[in-house]
Amino acid sequence: MLDGLDHHAARALLEWQMELGATEAIGETPVNRYDLPAAAPAPALPAAPAAPVIPAGEDAGVGADPVVAARAAAQAAPDLATLAAALAAYDHCELKRGARNTVFADGRPGARIMIIGEAPGRDEDIQGLPFVGRAGRLLDRMFAAIDLARDAVDAESALYITNILPWRPPENRRPTAEECAMLLPFVERHVELAGPDLLVLMGNTPCSAILGRGGITRLRGNWVEALDRPALPMVHPAYLLRTPAAKREAWADLLSLKARLKEIA
Ligand code: URA
Repeated sequence: MLDGLDHHAARALLEWQMELGATEAIGETPVNRYDLPAAAPAPALPAAPAAPVIPAGEDAGVGADPVVAARAAAQAAPDLATLAAALAAYDHCELKRGARNTVFADGRPGARIMIIGEAPGRDEDIQGLPFVGRAGRLLDRMFAAIDLARDAVDAESALYITNILPWRPPENRRPTAEECAMLLPFVERHVELAGPDLLVLMGNTPCSAILGRGGITRLRGNWVEALDRPALPMVHPAYLLRTPAAKREAWADLLSLKARLKEIA
């Protein structure tokens, strides 16, 4: 037990940490970090682009409306690197405080297909990249079956991948409508700057956030227009891991995607 804390207080502290998204103890024994000698200064990192300058009159400060602040920050970004910096600097979403990393994107910017998922899970939070856990490995196998990959060098066979939320929700809970609305301006600008021909909306969350409609089992496989381009709702690979029988429909959707790519080549 921690010094001076009774069982109930210690348990409340632990529950609070779990609410913030802590899912594991890092070491076997507790470390009192106040007693450690001062750390050596970290080596200098290569300069990252600064967050964009918000035009005067568009208040993005702490008291600002979170959606207005997100829109101002996202719209001021002239390129993807600056958008990533603006997202990392955005301070209105509580999820950021419990996350290890801001998960921006993976794959090749400029790819003809951009996949939009829900939010990082544990593995994504640790690695700082979207779709790198079990569901991500299935996603890679699915798209490899139609000759598309996030590490392909040519835009023709490449994928670009992001999520509606860049921070892991505690215990992988579903993102709230408020969180999605807050981060949507970044996703909209992300799509604008990446400029894909087609979007894949992976699961219920991106459909609700972008189309304003849920019910992925009815939406899947039906092309819609979203963010100024054709978009295909598909069931999430995490659902396919739980429901292998749905893989047959997912395969039909992949073929539809491949055909659409050829059509608009
Ligand atoms: N599920 C998602 O929707 N996105 C990820 O990055 C990982 C799992």
